[in-house]
Formats: sequence, structure tokens, C-alpha cells
Amino acid sequence: MSEAAANPGGRRLAGRVVLVTGAYGGYGRALALDCAREGARLVLLGRNARKLERVADAVEQSGGEALLYPLDLEGATPDDYAELAARVGEATGRLDALVHCAAVFPGLTPLEHTDPAMFARIVHVGLTARWWLTQACLPLLRASAAGRVVFTVDPLPRQAPAYWGAYGVVQRGLEALAATLQAENPGLGVHALPLPPLRTPLRARAYAADEDRLARDPSGATGACIALLATEQGA
Ligand SMILES: NC(=O)c1ccc[n+]([C@@H]2O[C@H](COP(=O)([O-])OP(=O)(O)OC[C@H]3O[C@@H](n4cnc5c(N)ncnc54)[C@H](OP(=O)(O)O)[C@@H]3O)[C@@H](O)[C@H]2O)c1
Repeated sequence: MSEAAANPGGRRLAGRVVLVTGAYGGYGRALALDCAREGARLVLLGRNARKLERVADAVEQSGGEALLYPLDLEGATPDDYAELAARVGEATGRLDALVHCAAVFPGLTPLEHTDPAMFARIVHVGLTARWWLTQACLPLLRASAAGRVVFTVDPLPRQAPAYWGAYGVVQRGLEALAATLQAENPGLGVHALPLPPLRTPLRARAYAADEDRLARDPSGATGACIALLATEQGA
């Protein structure tokens, strides 16, 4: 049966399972809700269970379905990610897409004055933990006919790198990680997805909200990611 025949409502992610990290953050929440509206089942990952529940309630109100996965990416080990992949596989039988939205950005600071422990946290949550989670989920993602890995990235530190510190370094690392993973896995869709300036807690650490004319509401910025998740394999 064709996808259109199986999905008469035309919802582009019908039947897919999408895992979103940073799921109660500004962009992650907006993306989770829009994926649900497009018919996806969600796995919502974040470190605060009560905040995850609020997103799950909103997903369910819009007719969707969400599993919660409370996890602190700072302390999680590769074994924790292996357990996550096993539990997602048991609960849903599949994983079609993994979208990384969790990130740490404490504010603009000269590299010289960055707290050493904070530098490590930013790199760990932004790059290493993203990879450990992706690595654990690869067998499930490769088993999907529409497997996707999306690393959200911030293009601003490339344009004007001063003061973006470890967060800026992470953005370049994510581009390299996505390119390497894609070259080694031509059957998967692997994307470093640049996002525009968004009105979120992260952005507010760099720009005063009342002076920030560029930032827009994240709910209007999910289209590019949904399109990546929805395209036919190889398209
Ligand atoms: N905002 C922008 O202008 C912009 C522009 C381009 C790209 N981006 C990218 O978009 C993505 C989402 O950013 P955002 O603006 O939506 O930021 P945000 O609202 O600050 O959301 C970031 C999320 O990451 C979570 N997180 C941080 N540390 C974590 C940990 N140890 N374990 C689990 N979760 C953790 C946060 O949870 P807690 O609240 O519990 O810390 C929060 O839910 C990031 O990759 C960012 O680089 C943003």
C-alpha cells in the first residue's frame, strides 16, 4: 500500500517515531508539537520530568502521542544510551528520526575567561552526548526506510565567532560530525540544520529580548526540519 493510501489525511509523518532532545526548550517544544500535528509519535527527552509532562500534555491535546524519557545528558553514559535505544525499540518497535535540540549556552564570554568546567559541559552536552545518543540509536534508525538524524546548529558563531566560546566550537564540530556520519551511512539522512535566530531562553542569554528585532517565534521555524523528516529516502 502506498503511503498516501495508508495515510488519507495527508499527514507527512504518519506512522513515524521521532525522538526530540531538549523537548521542553524553545525550539524542541515547537518541533515536537508540529511533528505530532504531522502524525508522528514522539519520544520526548529532557532532564526535568515535570516540564516534559507539560509538553506531552500539549502533544496529546493536539491529538498526538508522546513517550517521556527523562535523562540528564550531562551525566548519562553510553550504557544509559544503549538502554534508551532498547527501551524505545521495545515500546514503539521503531525509531525513524532523532532530532537533537538540547544545548548549553551560558552567554557571550571571551574564551580566556570561560570557566574550565563550563567549557567541558558545553562540549559534552552539545557534541559528545549528541554523538553517544546517535551511536546507540543507529541500528534502529538504519532499520527505518526513512531514517533521519538532525543536529540543529547555530550559524551565528560562524559569521561572527568572537565571544561564542565553546558553544561556537560545538557548532563547527556538529557540521563535521554530520558530514562524517552521512559519508559513512549513505542510506540515512544526516543533517546539520542551521536555524534562524529564535526567541528562546538560549538566545536571551546573548541578546536582550526587548532589543532583539531578528529573533522570531520558534513555532514558525519548524518547517525546514519537518521537510527533512518527511522527504522520501534519497530525495
Ligand atoms: N535560539 C536561537 O536563536 C537558535 C539559533 C540557531 C540554532 N539554535 C539551536 O537550536 C537548538 C535549541 O535551542 P533553543 O534556542 O531552543 O534553546 P533552549 O530553549 O535553551 O533549549 C535547550 C534545551 O536543552 C536542554 N538541555 C540543556 N542541558 C541539558 C542536559 N544536560 N540534559 C538534557 N537536556 C539539556 C535544556 O533543558 P534545561 O532547561 O533543563 O537546561 C533545554 O530544554 C540548539 O541546538 C541551538 O543551538 C538556536
